[in-house]
Parts: sequence; C-alpha cells; structure tokens
Amino acid sequence: MKIAILGCGSIGGAVAVGLSRCGVFRTSDITVTAGHASSLDRFAGLGFRASLNNAEAAREADIVMISVRSRVVKQVVEEIRDALDYSRQIIVSMAAEYPSEELLSLFRRPDGSVPQVVKVIPNTAIEARQSMTFLAPVNADKEHLEQVRAVFDKAGKTLLVEEKMLGAGTTLASCGIGYAMAYVKAASEGGKRLGFTAEDAVRIVAQTVQGAVSLLEMRDFRPEEEIDKVATPGGLTEKGLKAMEESGFTDAVIRGLTASAI
Ligand SMILES: NC(=O)c1ccc[n+]([C@@H]2O[C@H](COP(=O)([O-])OP(=O)(O)OC[C@H]3O[C@@H](n4cnc5c(N)ncnc54)[C@H](OP(=O)(O)O)[C@@H]3O)[C@@H](O)[C@H]2O)c1
Repeated sequence: MKIAILGCGSIGGAVAVGLSRCGVFRTSDITVTAGHASSLDRFAGLGFRASLNNAEAAREADIVMISVRSRVVKQVVEEIRDALDYSRQIIVSMAAEYPSEELLSLFRRPDGSVPQVVKVIPNTAIEARQSMTFLAPVNADKEHLEQVRAVFDKAGKTLLVEEKMLGAGTTLASCGIGYAMAYVKAASEGGKRLGFTAEDAVRIVAQTVQGAVSLLEMRDFRPEEEIDKVATPGGLTEKGLKAMEESGFTDAVIRGLTASAI
C-alpha cells in the first residue's frame, strides 16, 4: 500500500514516522509533502519520498492524507483534485477544524463524483505507535473505512465515532498530549524541589505515569480504585491529593479541556 501525507508538520510527520515503524510500510511507500523544501530534509534523510508537488505525491497513493492547517486545505485540494482516481483512492482528512461538507464540495467534480473521505484525528504519540486515533466516515463506506482503520490500528488504539464527536476527541486526545505533558512538567518541577535533578525528576515522573497507565490497562480502566490503593486514610497520598484539590486540580483540568473544545 502506498500512502501520501500532504503536510509533514507536527501531526503529518508523526504519522509518517509512526507508520514507518510499524513493520508494514516501507519509508519508500510513504511520500510526504510540505510548504517549504527545508521541511522535507529530515524525511528525505529517513528514506521517505519527499516532494513539494502535492499532485504528484497524491497520484500514486492508495490513501491520500491531508494534514495541513485549515487555511491551506482549499489550495491543496485544488492542486490534487484532477490527479486523483476517485474509484481507487481514499482521502483521509486530519484537518480537525475544516468542515467536511466543505471538503467534499471542494473535491466534487462537474459530474458530481466525490472520493471516499474519512476524517481521522490521531495524536502526536503516533510517532511512538501509541496514538489515540478517532475515525469518522464522512461519506466512506464500511470497506474503505476499515481499510483506513487497519492502517491506524498499527500505530496505537483507534475508536470509530460519529463525526460530531471528533472535536471532543481532538480536545481530549490530541490537545491531551499537551495536557499530559503539562502534568509531567509540573510534577517534575515538584520533584526538583524535593531534591532530584531536573533530568532524574522527569524520568521518575514519566516512569510513574507509564506505571499508572499499565495498571489501568491491567484492571479495566478504574482510576478511582487505583487511587484508593495508594491513598490510605490519613496517609501521605491522601494529604497530597487533598492539597491538589484545594488548589483546584480537577477544575483546572476541566477548564483547560473546555477552553480547547472545538
Ligand atoms: N498537531 C496535532 O496534534 C494534530 C492532531 C490532529 C489533527 N491535527 C490537524 O492537522 C493539521 C496540521 O496540524 P499540525 O499541528 O501538524 O500543523 P503544522 O505543524 O503547522 O504542519 C503543517 C504542515 O503543512 C505543511 N504545508 C503548508 N503548506 C503546504 C502546502 N501548500 N502543501 C503541502 N504542505 C503544506 C507545512 O509545511 P511548511 O512548514 O514547510 O510550510 C507543515 O509541514 C491541522 O489541520 C490540525 O488541526 C493536528
């Protein structure tokens, strides 16, 4: 299978690298494009096919992924539209905020035909093959949707959702990488005040978060139960959690999430 990733920035680049690491796609089967030649150097160096020509990149691909910012989507679609074979190629749109109806109308040809389009929201952890990826069919049938899902299944977990839930998915999982990192950063800062070096502190927090995630996976995702195991009444963890809540921890997280809701 050949894949074109139009726009190899934060998310497109992470998708390219993540897919190349899953043992199924060769870097030579993945073509990435960018707005500037200098953005392609890293990918060319890794063995990807790299091009500034979106139409050429899209022409040979089975799946064409659009991962440019919203303001560039129209230009990119206009460049690739006539190069595509709608009967064979699937379009994946990662442009979180770009309305799907508008995207379909950009692709619509004079005879009314449109390609199969799936909207996909991965997060940057796809580079480490640990993405939380949401998929919603725009107009794609089940077979094409499953083809796309099979690709993203190789680089993390996927969830099929209604399109109206993609915004919430973006907030919780894509922006969520930033929020999880903010916790790691804050806890590492605390670790430094407790006497660890900055480098040790961040490694300790990272391994602790990894351990917490592994516990959740082992035991049916029940964070309250795992908290109860460490927060014995009158103990240190209980004191710490109380102090965090008094400082508005849960409220702060929820406010951050709602502020970034699409
Ligand atoms: N970041 C995330 O976690 C995430 C997650 C899910 C979805 N998304 C969505 O993905 C899209 C891209 O976000 P991003 O964070 O990856 O942005 P970004 O880092 O700014 O990347 C945008 C990429 O598009 C390239 N580009 C610009 N003009 C182009 C053109 N005419 N043809 C081909 N490529 C072009 C840029 O290349 P140059 O830098 O060389 O101009 C850059 O590589 C957005 O719509 C966003 O909503 C992002």
